[in-house]
Amino acid sequence: MWNISHLRALRKLPSAEFHTCSRLGAMKAAGKHRARVYVSRRIPPAGMEILQQSGICDIDQWDSDDPVPREELLKKVAGAKGLYCLLTEKIDEEVLKAAGPSLKVVSTMSVGYDHLSLEELKKRGIRVGYTPDVLTEAVAELTVALLLATSRRLIEAAHEAKSGGWGTWKPLWMCGNGLSQSTVGIFGLGRIGEAIAKRLKPFGVKKFLYTDVTPRPEVAANISAEFVSMDELAERSDFITVCCALTPETQGICNKKLFSKMKSTAVFINTSRGAVVSQEDLYEALANGEIAAAGLDVTVPEPLPLDHPLFKLKNCVILPHIASATIETRNAMAALAANNLLAGLQGEAMPREVPL
Ligand code: DGY
Repeated sequence: MWNISHLRALRKLPSAEFHTCSRLGAMKAAGKHRARVYVSRRIPPAGMEILQQSGICDIDQWDSDDPVPREELLKKVAGAKGLYCLLTEKIDEEVLKAAGPSLKVVSTMSVGYDHLSLEELKKRGIRVGYTPDVLTEAVAELTVALLLATSRRLIEAAHEAKSGGWGTWKPLWMCGNGLSQSTVGIFGLGRIGEAIAKRLKPFGVKKFLYTDVTPRPEVAANISAEFVSMDELAERSDFITVCCALTPETQGICNKKLFSKMKSTAVFINTSRGAVVSQEDLYEALANGEIAAAGLDVTVPEPLPLDHPLFKLKNCVILPHIASATIETRNAMAALAANNLLAGLQGEAMPREVPL
């Protein structure tokens, strides 16, 4: 069972993610009027302990591993001062209206905040916390794992091994594409893109390319990456990994146009948000051999229906949105989201606040 002492002992977690005892004491002393907080899911223990021990809030929680039904969320958020939510809850005008003027802070246990209507939040002066940095390593690690599983056909090969498809050793059977001497294109060079490149480099990658809204020379210098246009990224890359945020500009940006410019041997990986990709166009590109394979940790919708055409393709590896799923990381995300919420409730600087 994980508790706060376990988490404090974790080397990698920034100390800012944890309240010190003295700060907790001050918070308790100041907390004569406890704020009502709604937590929209059962969350990792580190987050819950921080909220409970703060002594400044009354916690109402949807105590389940499954998402809170929308009607329940609308009912329970009414009159809350703080909302602790996950990426599965759309926090839009309807929710904010249901919450009413008492709501001062929304804290999401995610780095992505495309599920939050920032405009509506800003209009109401509601502050927003999120959880960058603490998941970078886990997401980068999973991205590399997915890339290798996809390019070296691990899922397909393992299935063949246990279902009778493994005959004698054959020179051309189950061949994929290796990373050695390859060119890797990163779409969206932020913390996660950089961390992926650092992990891929030892596999012998020859060249890193990246595209983004604008060049990011400081980050690019760390991985010797060259800034190119989206078209050039498509044309020159052997592997493309999508690490951008979902915004109106990136919605559906990985589409027919991109896939048609990619090499027929190229591998496409997405661990950002499903909506960045046109799944219909991706299906066509994979089924028609325009690109070699795709690995997706994110889809639209989630979960992807079992009868979805992408599930029928051998050259498409689909994971159920698990990029940040290590115990340490999920606890660190929960703790950071809790501390963001508490800081927001008290009108203090949040450890990680979304600038509105
Ligand atoms: C996030 O935090 O936005 C990720 O998608 C979940 O790990």
